[in-house]
Amino acid sequence: MCGIVGYIGSREAYPVIIKGLKRLEYRGYDSAGIALLNGGLKVYKKKDKVADLEESVIGKDISGTTGIGHTRWATHGEPSDRNAHPHVSNSGNIAMIHNGIIENYASIKNELIKKGYTFSSDTDTEVLLNFIEDIKKNNEGTLEEALRIALKRVVGAYCILLIDKNNPDTIIAARKGSPLVIGIGKNEHFLASDASPIIEYTKEVVYVNDYEIAIVHADELILKNLGNEKQTPFITKLDMELSAIEKGGYEHFMLKEIFEQPQTIYDCLRGRMNAETGVITMSGIQQYEQQIMNAGRIIIIACGTSWHAGLVAEYVFEELCRIPVEVEYASEFRYRNPVVNKGDVVIAISQSGETADTLVAIETAKEQGAIILGILNVVGSSIARKSHAGAYTHAGPEIGVASTKAFTAQLAVLIMVALKIAHAKNTINKERYLLLCKELMEIPDKVAIVLLQNNNIKALASKYKDAYDFLYLGRGYNFPVALEGALKLKEISYIHAEGYPAAEMKHGPIALVDEKLPVVFVATKDSYHQKIISNMQEIKARKGKVISIITEGDTVSPTLSDDIIIIPPADEIVAPMLSVIPLQLLAYYIGVAKDYDVDKPRNLAKSVTVE
Ligand code: G6P
Repeated sequence: MCGIVGYIGSREAYPVIIKGLKRLEYRGYDSAGIALLNGGLKVYKKKDKVADLEESVIGKDISGTTGIGHTRWATHGEPSDRNAHPHVSNSGNIAMIHNGIIENYASIKNELIKKGYTFSSDTDTEVLLNFIEDIKKNNEGTLEEALRIALKRVVGAYCILLIDKNNPDTIIAARKGSPLVIGIGKNEHFLASDASPIIEYTKEVVYVNDYEIAIVHADELILKNLGNEKQTPFITKLDMELSAIEKGGYEHFMLKEIFEQPQTIYDCLRGRMNAETGVITMSGIQQYEQQIMNAGRIIIIACGTSWHAGLVAEYVFEELCRIPVEVEYASEFRYRNPVVNKGDVVIAISQSGETADTLVAIETAKEQGAIILGILNVVGSSIARKSHAGAYTHAGPEIGVASTKAFTAQLAVLIMVALKIAHAKNTINKERYLLLCKELMEIPDKVAIVLLQNNNIKALASKYKDAYDFLYLGRGYNFPVALEGALKLKEISYIHAEGYPAAEMKHGPIALVDEKLPVVFVATKDSYHQKIISNMQEIKARKGKVISIITEGDTVSPTLSDDIIIIPPADEIVAPMLSVIPLQLLAYYIGVAKDYDVDKPRNLAKSVTVE
């Protein structure tokens, strides 16, 4: 939530920052702003997208080799020009941008108001900024000292960047809970919420840790903790190419990412799964294999699409490993005083690795003695660093706000882990184990076959785009897929959609069914197939419109469906990686048909770093 970029060096800062903000726009896009030092302090900010900010500065002075920029996802205060960052302190000397939430801002604000401070926005950020300025004034000290004192009083999460008109050779940054990466160039430094704005300039980066302050000059990076002790910056080499964060000829990132899935799933399996020998190598979890095998319980913690991947994993782990699994919304788990026993294994699933609810939830579980495994896409992310072990999904940067390729990669990793544990525990027979290894390895090619249905799905989207509601139904492994299909449609097309277990439908949702309601059945051939056929009949009997995702060779479902999408046969354990693809495309094309910004749907953000 909120994207942050900073630059200090000998280039013009403005183009570097604007380009960086566009790459980070997935983190929030309700307003954007930039502050530049060029003798004085220039601040420009604008409601809406980075492109609107760019337009608003045409003809203005945008020179300067030090600057900070921000793209916002509103928490405190509506999206508007005045609530946009950067904020400027009462003296007019210091500008600040912030990602996160200052929870005790109200009491600090009252103190400052009593001292005569005034505020031109509704944000918690402006409060923190003036608090820092007030401490600086009272102590007659440096900005860095004032920041350190202020942060000790602050409750909440932050990544902040500060620049001072009177000290133009420095950017000061600090983080707790919200990410910050610093790219190290030749006599220049780049600061950002993730590596995407940095990658084209340098591959050497430092991930700043919680409770660290960075004092950044063009030619020097100093890291300190809140106790003012110097820390040694740990330089990491980025393993990412620029092309991975560009659209590559597709109209939208979401479409590109849907079409990347044969490759991303393959990348996830490559080097780990040998289907012929049945050897699965996952070095990240090797060390904890015994503990997972002996776990009394697995608790899966996630949000959004990642939570749906967790639901599929629940079925897979219980079926294959015979370990009880609970899947928890991170936000609920954190606040309900959960029972966690020593030796429980917690699997945190997150594309970004930064989701605040998930991060806080695993901290809670860790304190209570659980082993934390992270199934994450972003290397070096906060959850990765808080986990004992885990496995990356290797799906590459996911820019479209609605998650697609991350979901299938998460499933690939989770199924591999389950297979590995089941094999070690001997809860699966050899024949089935080898079959599932083979089935998993065949998924990338089968996804490519599903993608051939693209034009068919596009046509269906234009047929159903004006519906007000959709129902998505599935059973067993396909139930979470139904939930995910409904979520995709809500996110991208703003059409109300509900996902339901197909059998549960008769306990309520069936009352919604009439000739106008499209009902999407995820009805691939599996052990529940006969049952879901009956559910289709129940919908047809009430004149609902049935759209079915079916397995090649199924002759019954087409007779009960208005429209069908055929996918290749696959074992039910791996089938969700295929059946979800048409649902991603359906949501995408309905969103496009309705002329919505599918990569940046309203009110959403890709990385939700507030609780
Ligand atoms: C946001 C995104 C979703 C994502 C969810 C969890 O809501 O818009 O696409 O599924 O966060 O994110 P995570 O990075 O933890 O998987």
